[in-house]
Amino acid sequence: MATIDYGYPWWLSYGHLSVFVPSVGAFLIGRARRWPVWLLAFFGVLALWAGAAFFVVRSFAVNGEPALPTQNFLRSGEGRVLDIGAGTGRSSIMVLKARPKATLVASDLFAASFDEHFGKKGSPQDRLLSNLVAAGVADRATIATADMRKLPFDSASFDAIVSAYAVDHVGRDGAKQALAEAFRVVKPGGEFLLILVANDASAKFAYGPMLTHGGTRGATWWKQAAAEAGFQTAEEGTSTATLYLLLKKA
Ligand SMILES: C[S@@+](CC[C@H](N)C(=O)[O-])C[C@H]1O[C@@H](n2cnc3c(N)ncnc32)[C@H](O)[C@@H]1O
Repeated sequence: MATIDYGYPWWLSYGHLSVFVPSVGAFLIGRARRWPVWLLAFFGVLALWAGAAFFVVRSFAVNGEPALPTQNFLRSGEGRVLDIGAGTGRSSIMVLKARPKATLVASDLFAASFDEHFGKKGSPQDRLLSNLVAAGVADRATIATADMRKLPFDSASFDAIVSAYAVDHVGRDGAKQALAEAFRVVKPGGEFLLILVANDASAKFAYGPMLTHGGTRGATWWKQAAAEAGFQTAEEGTSTATLYLLLKKA
């Protein structure tokens, strides 16, 4: 049976264990052989950090199945949804499973940024499709190659939009263009669930600067940019390394 492989690198989930195990080993060996206290303290602190960071990272579960951050997204349960920056399908599958009557267009540029996140292991579109099939939602999904800064879709052609950890990967100007395009293609009364990387305390603790490659910005910046595009912020929230905004088009 086909299985889902979101394809994020192993070290995002398990890298801390590869620090934890050797540092515990070094600590125990050092204690038995009476190494200097400063060296024991170094390995002890390293082991404590790596162990704690591993538990932080488990709650993020980057290769696991995420839950909708808010049940207020697409409460009607049906409609045509656009996923912007769908990648290997994690956010698309999240919506299609939570909203079994909805259909979805999984869009992505499928270019350098895709390879940076998921590696070059065959056709990106095939990898996305294979995950949609494995999740049992492929019959309600189509795949489109699209640059979020200039979407190839008609105005007001979607009931809702989702985007997870993608609009924060195109710089400030790119993000503003993407928000304006999202506003254009969603119907009046429609909504946009915008999920972003947050460089919060747990992200800094576990990954240092590694999650900031997209240039994280705070909630205030995103709400202002969304308002400039025409959206109203109906709800906002946070979870580990994540900020979400539920935006509405009046
Ligand atoms: C961190 S991944 C997120 C994938 C998925 N949404 C998830 O939650 O796992 C960022 C995605 O944004 C896509 N992306 C980057 N720039 C893009 C652009 N200009 N237009 C469309 N997609 C883009 C990348 O190809 C990549 O798949």
